Amino acid sequence: MSYTGHYTVLKHECVDSLIEKAPLDKKSYYADLTFGGGGHTFEFLYRNPLFNVRSTDQDPDALKNGNERIQKEQMGDRIKLIDTNFVHFPSMIREHSPEVFADGGFQGILLDLGVSSHHFDEAGRGFSFRFDGPLDMRMDYESDEFQTAEEIVNTYSEEELRRIFEEYGEEKNARKIAAKIVTERKEKRISTTKELENIVFHCYPKEHRYGKTNPSTRVFQALRLEVNRELEVLSNTIDQLIPLLKVGGRLAIISFHSLEDRIVKNVFRDASQKTELPVEVLTKKPILPSEQEILDNSRSRSAKLRILERVETKKDKNKYKQ
Ligand SMILES: C[S@@+](CC[C@H](N)C(=O)[O-])C[C@H]1O[C@@H](n2cnc3c(N)ncnc32)[C@H](O)[C@@H]1O
Repeated sequence: MSYTGHYTVLKHECVDSLIEKAPLDKKSYYADLTFGGGGHTFEFLYRNPLFNVRSTDQDPDALKNGNERIQKEQMGDRIKLIDTNFVHFPSMIREHSPEVFADGGFQGILLDLGVSSHHFDEAGRGFSFRFDGPLDMRMDYESDEFQTAEEIVNTYSEEELRRIFEEYGEEKNARKIAAKIVTERKEKRISTTKELENIVFHCYPKEHRYGKTNPSTRVFQALRLEVNRELEVLSNTIDQLIPLLKVGGRLAIISFHSLEDRIVKNVFRDASQKTELPVEVLTKKPILPSEQEILDNSRSRSAKLRILERVETKKDKNKYKQ
């Protein structure tokens, strides 16, 4: 499918922070594990000819579009775009790019989580209730590793459906929606985004059907997280990235909802309490998009950026206390 594009969120805040300590006279390496439309990756490459990026994405459309752009911009081997789920990055990158570790590791690693505008804007991907499309929602639609939303909606038990709508969607009508799905699918398999939207719509009380948020928003979010196992992948990846940083290197993560942000915050806090690989959390509070950015791109409104730095030794907070 052709790539419909993506508006990069917190571009300058992320890149400025990750390059702050980069040496000006020798090569630095960055990892952008969520390449998407390449907004962050190319910003690193434009900032300094000595910057190199190792990027990943699992989405075939993003990879195809990215490889075409890399060719067009003639970046040579300064950028390598790897087709993988980023959960595999820590175990494969030392062998894939030994040059990074000959230099001590990455100067910066970035995760800009979730799906891109392309996913929401392309009807055929099934992420959005704005269009009628197949209930798919897999980022990596060429792999058998992930079930589609259609498989989940038509095979999970009522209890399992309710759990994911409650846990991943914080959906108040989860019980009613799960029950209605199970009744409807006995009559006919639920296969399209509009069929599911219609079911959810009728489970909402009449006075809440036409509010600011479409009744299907939470159910679609929950299904997307379940299909791509996004929270599990995130939890299994973050602390594995820290040993890939050189001393002074930084890890930046942009999240888009409270479930993701909680994982990032907790893993950062736990990492900062360990002594064997010392890190400092640089963002006591997350960095948020400016009012102007939210006006320019309303999808940025829920973004939160947290950053940590690998340090030589921890500052001893009690050093001067009696
Ligand atoms: C929010 S977009 C990134 C946009 C990018 N920073 C830009 O400015 O163009 C997230 C991208 O990460 C990819 N992605 C999400 N989770 C992934 C994972 N576990 N492994 C690999 N890629 C992933 C998605 O396919 C999507 O293209």
